[in-house]
Amino acid sequence: MTDNQIIIFDTTLRDGEQSPGCSMNLDEKLKIARLLDGMGVDVIEAGFPIASPGDFEAVQEIAKTIKNAVVCGLSRAKAADIDAAAEALKPAQRSRIHTFISTSESHMRYQLQMPPEAVLESVRESVTRARGYTDNVEWSGMDATRSDLDFLCRCIEAAITCGATTINIPDTVGFAEPEEYGTLIRNILNRVPNIDKAILSTHCHNDLGLAVANSLAGVKAGARQIECTINGIGERAGNAALEEIVMALKVREDILPFKTNIDTTQIIKMSRTLSTTIGFNVQPNKAIVGANAFAHESGIHQDGVLKHAGTYEIMTPESVGLTKSSLVLGKHSGRHALKDKLKDLGYELGDNAFQDLFARFKKLADQKKELHDDDIIALIEDEVASEHDRIQFVSLQIKAGTEGPQVADLILSIDGEKKGVHTEGNGPVDAIFKAIREICPHPNAHLQLYQVHAITGGTDAQAEVTVRLEEEGKTVNGQGADADTLVASARAYVHALNKLMVKRLKTKPAEEAA
Ligand code: KIV
Ligand code: ZN
Repeated sequence: MTDNQIIIFDTTLRDGEQSPGCSMNLDEKLKIARLLDGMGVDVIEAGFPIASPGDFEAVQEIAKTIKNAVVCGLSRAKAADIDAAAEALKPAQRSRIHTFISTSESHMRYQLQMPPEAVLESVRESVTRARGYTDNVEWSGMDATRSDLDFLCRCIEAAITCGATTINIPDTVGFAEPEEYGTLIRNILNRVPNIDKAILSTHCHNDLGLAVANSLAGVKAGARQIECTINGIGERAGNAALEEIVMALKVREDILPFKTNIDTTQIIKMSRTLSTTIGFNVQPNKAIVGANAFAHESGIHQDGVLKHAGTYEIMTPESVGLTKSSLVLGKHSGRHALKDKLKDLGYELGDNAFQDLFARFKKLADQKKELHDDDIIALIEDEVASEHDRIQFVSLQIKAGTEGPQVADLILSIDGEKKGVHTEGNGPVDAIFKAIREICPHPNAHLQLYQVHAITGGTDAQAEVTVRLEEEGKTVNGQGADADTLVASARAYVHALNKLMVKRLKTKPAEEAA
């Protein structure tokens, strides 16, 4: 590894996934892990194996699947956690155990209720145990930025002595400021005697909107690994956003002379796939991946860009994988054209899923004059998401308008058996959701979010709907896409319900979350 190479450690599937509304099922996690691997992420933190059987299985399946990146599993400083992480990571070609314990006065006193010397002993024991399984061990001092520097340095030295090869300095509560964070990294490099035997890593949360700035300050001060997530998802205000870090390093190479292995042309696809999977749309003005990130609205800007793109564009849309929105397929396009398009967009579907997709594509092409790549992607994501679902949407008729009551006639198929109901509601969406609840009762689940998003412009745009359901503290997101917003709503609810059923079967409460 050269001196200016930055290791990109992605924690979308762990720190990102553990935040409310971002949970994913196994297939979704595998899909995201494959994309991360394909775009050149060096380390994928796949989950927290002790947290639940679902997390354990996800880390294990990702470990079996991923061929290039190091697959990492998180553990507290507890023997059972470390053993579970090691077991889940067994199938990996290259694996890492990441173990952490809090080092700040406040966390040690109030949360761990352990004196500092006991924490220090726990650092030694946990790293030694992890090293018994692998020579790739990362240690984190949780809440490092609010820890006493002397004590933090003693913990780091002990972790390295016991075999840790990466030392992570989390700004767990997003409290640090860039100059301060850079100084902390520099102090650690100057004060810890064996620091040359480990790589220093940044892990910054975004509570003050400084996560990316802090990470870059850390790198300038000598850190060589950055922990980050796609779209910046994560606890509370999230983590440092991978796409912002990678593009900052690329665009400002003049003052940030560092390299990453990321293929930046995969960024948009990665960001959109994650958004549709978890139902978190990024804000339109979000750097790099927001819908407006490359849009020039004001006359002066448009005039400049038309004369020379560099007048107002510091990076090309192509460099992050934005292609000029192309008019793709229409109602005369056949199976062959659709298959070619799927290949171009990087999707592979089984025969049955492809037949269903083709039928929906034809229907959409009849309703909508212009089909863009985003329309096709939404249909595919919808199809892939529901392919193995036990409850399938079949049909919907609605009576809506100013004269109530609004009425829904809905047919679903459950394990292949069709069931229909007729319901009235306060508005068509209420009628549809009542109908679903009547066919598949789920009294303990509550609707937390209902969100509609137009995929492209125009009144004939496809609607993409996200529904979030919560049951006993667990949340799931469902998505549905259709030219008819109400059909998309029904599909999204049914999708969420299927995920809830899977979660009920798989999830056992975690003892305590990281
Ligand atoms: O923010 C944090 O401190 C963490 C640790 C588990 C590394 O996510
Ligand atoms: Zn974190």
